[in-house]
Amino acid sequence: MKVGIIVGSIRDGRVGRGIADWVYEIASKRDDAEYELIDLKEFNVPLLTSGTHPMAAKRKYDSEEVQAWSNAIDPCDAYVFVTPEYNHGVPGALKNAVDCLGEEWIGKTIAFVGYGSVGGVRAIEHWRSIVANFSMVDIRAEVNISLFADFKEGTFTPIDRRPDEVNALFDALVKAAS
Ligand SMILES: Cc1cc2nc3c(=O)[nH]c(=O)nc-3n(C[C@H](O)[C@H](O)[C@H](O)COP(=O)(O)O)c2cc1C
Repeated sequence: MKVGIIVGSIRDGRVGRGIADWVYEIASKRDDAEYELIDLKEFNVPLLTSGTHPMAAKRKYDSEEVQAWSNAIDPCDAYVFVTPEYNHGVPGALKNAVDCLGEEWIGKTIAFVGYGSVGGVRAIEHWRSIVANFSMVDIRAEVNISLFADFKEGTFTPIDRRPDEVNALFDALVKAAS
């Protein structure tokens, strides 16, 4: 089983990459799945302008960038979105990248690591309603990283219970995806 850990922010100076690296480090110590870090920023996915509905594209895209993104997403059986919360919702770049694909997502299993002033909870709830359109199976367990409790002087410093929370999330994800 392959699990894609997706970095959901593409901003300069983002904190999301550091959080995703930490999630991936925990994943790397597990032997229940193959884990891969997928950084959205490296794909330069353009805004969706294609006239073909992605759900009808049969995994073939005019844009080289979208094709590369599809090629990274398609082999995964399950995903962890490491997602910021922007204006009480999901980050636009990742929403666009989700919109650009179709069949790649269908029926797959997904869990969320959110971060923000209240742990990204509003973004995660938003994601849950979005991924329902792909009949994805979303895991109830989530990790909510606080920009206050989990950062010291601007540096990501997760509190003690966070690694256990991440492992519980992976346990549930792998079980459901199996
Ligand atoms: C456009 C924008 C909107 C934001 N809106 C929220 C918000 O609604 N809730 C929240 O908790 N944090 C919000 N923030 C603060 C982010 O949680 C914080 O900047 C975080 O570092 C963003 O993740 P990133 O650095 O990985 O992009 C917002 C940040 C940006 C740039």
